[in-house]
Amino acid sequence: MPTREPQRVVVLGAGVIGLTCALSLVEQGYTVHVVARDLPEDTDSTAFASPWAGANVCPFKSLEEGPREARWETVTFKKLSTMIPSGLAMTLKGTRRFAHEESQLLGHWYKDVVPNYRHLNREECPPNAIGVEFDTISVNAPKYCHYLAHELRSKGVTIERRYVKSIEEVFRETFGARNDFVVNATGLGAKSIAGVEDQEVRPIRGQTVLIKSDCVRCTMDSSDPTSSAYIIPRPGGEVICGGSYGVDDWDLSVSPDHAKRILSHCLRLDPSISRDGTLEGIEILRHNVGLRPSRSSGPRVEKEIIELNHEKSPIRIGSRLDDATKGKSAKTRGVVVHAYGVGPAGYQQSWGIAQDVVKLIQEGEARESKL
Ligand code: FAD
Ligand code: LAC
Repeated sequence: MPTREPQRVVVLGAGVIGLTCALSLVEQGYTVHVVARDLPEDTDSTAFASPWAGANVCPFKSLEEGPREARWETVTFKKLSTMIPSGLAMTLKGTRRFAHEESQLLGHWYKDVVPNYRHLNREECPPNAIGVEFDTISVNAPKYCHYLAHELRSKGVTIERRYVKSIEEVFRETFGARNDFVVNATGLGAKSIAGVEDQEVRPIRGQTVLIKSDCVRCTMDSSDPTSSAYIIPRPGGEVICGGSYGVDDWDLSVSPDHAKRILSHCLRLDPSISRDGTLEGIEILRHNVGLRPSRSSGPRVEKEIIELNHEKSPIRIGSRLDDATKGKSAKTRGVVVHAYGVGPAGYQQSWGIAQDVVKLIQEGEARESKL
């Protein structure tokens, strides 16, 4: 019996989500092509989020709020743990402090996932706070994305720089127009790409300061609702001091006041980030602003069948095809698997999301072969 040609997948987007999906797909035998406006080598581009992450693993949701997220984060923590010996990922003690009102966050679901989870003693927290300690993992975000791209290229995956206006265009004009599936990992791009136009997509602006420091303790503090801060050491002797969460804030300029607040707060949390314990003793490498690609009702990881029209894109009203255009001049159908809207958690959820994306494509394949 002749063996079937490998199925062809275009991954649209080369942030951490697109790259991880592409790698997981190629490892499952798919022929993969990546198309994106911003590529991993664009480490200064503020047009995508991935270069600007901390990036550590620190779950934000309880199991009730986010069972999918818990699953994705468990898968990712295990996968990143395998990258510690190579130096790509780094293990570090993490301390996390919350306001008392957030006490439901204690006894986290991840207490059985991360090593050495324990509650902080009263004297280890400010009076208004409670907290936990555990061993977390961080990666150097831009270098990690470089690594993913390098792995992809070494496995024969092609990566094309291209700005795409519509999902239809991806089916029609990329990869020899013989695509079986498109993975849509466009982050904030999903708000405007024709055929997606997801108005739930919104930025959460994050300002950080990258410093040089030997500090190896990760500290996250949200005990003061007016000023949250974190210190995330990453491989290579660098530390990200953050941060801010500006919902719907598209401003890419650095606020000096903000930077000062961040550094002052971080210094209070851990004076070892400074050579001499003063603000002036902190060795600043650069100021960063990144826009986290968030989505009001949570990440979108699902399959959608769209009708392809060789002349023009399908017209949509909200999330459905307009009846007036449905079926009229449409010639074929395309299977899109969406993977966007991960907000502040793209790195820590990446391998779990990619696993779901592979599953959705495999299910799509099974259905097609029955027709
Ligand atoms: P993006 O990285 O934004 O990539 C989108 C891709 O789609 C890009 O390649 C872009 O060019 C492409 N694209 C979009 N539109 C088009 C188009 N029309 N045509 C062609 N290509 C297009 N996460 C963690 O897990 N841990 C952390 O500690 C952490 N810290 C963070 C700190 C800060 C300050 C910030 C800003 C983010 C942080 N994050 C963290 C979040 C993380 O960075 C994001 O969740 C993640 O990078 C999102 O990845 P993505 O691939 O979905 O999107
Ligand atoms: C952020 C990290 C801490 O989004 O997840 O800033």
